[in-house]
Amino acid sequence: MTLITWTAGQYGTNVGFADDEHKILFDKLNKLYDLATGGAQRSEIGAQLDDLIAYVVEHFAHEEKEMVAKAYSGYDAHKAEHEALIGICGGLQTKFHAGEAEVTEEVGQLVKSWLDSHIPTYDMAYASALNS
Ligand SMILES: [Fe+2]
Ligand SMILES: [Fe+2]
Repeated sequence: MTLITWTAGQYGTNVGFADDEHKILFDKLNKLYDLATGGAQRSEIGAQLDDLIAYVVEHFAHEEKEMVAKAYSGYDAHKAEHEALIGICGGLQTKFHAGEAEVTEEVGQLVKSWLDSHIPTYDMAYASALNS
């Protein structure tokens, strides 16, 4: 079952690159969720986890670069949110590869909840600055 579906109404930021990257991010998260909840090989789950986290890091860096370029006033709070998620993901990634944690249904729901909160609250807020 699909974990998260991009719609303009729920996730549209009015910033082209952000919407494009969010769609790719959602695809990667859905693929991980399907593998993890569908009994895929652990190696396959690990590869998809690494791919998703690398993309999240890249996407956050892109947003941060654009916010800095526009001297956006909400930059510090936004970057702190990004770093909090990277910290959680990095911890899971390390534990997964050490055989101490698994990618579970709850992990998928946690990342979905984070996106459900972050995109409307933080990403949508930078639209007027980034489009100026
Ligand atoms: Fe974003
Ligand atoms: Fe963001």
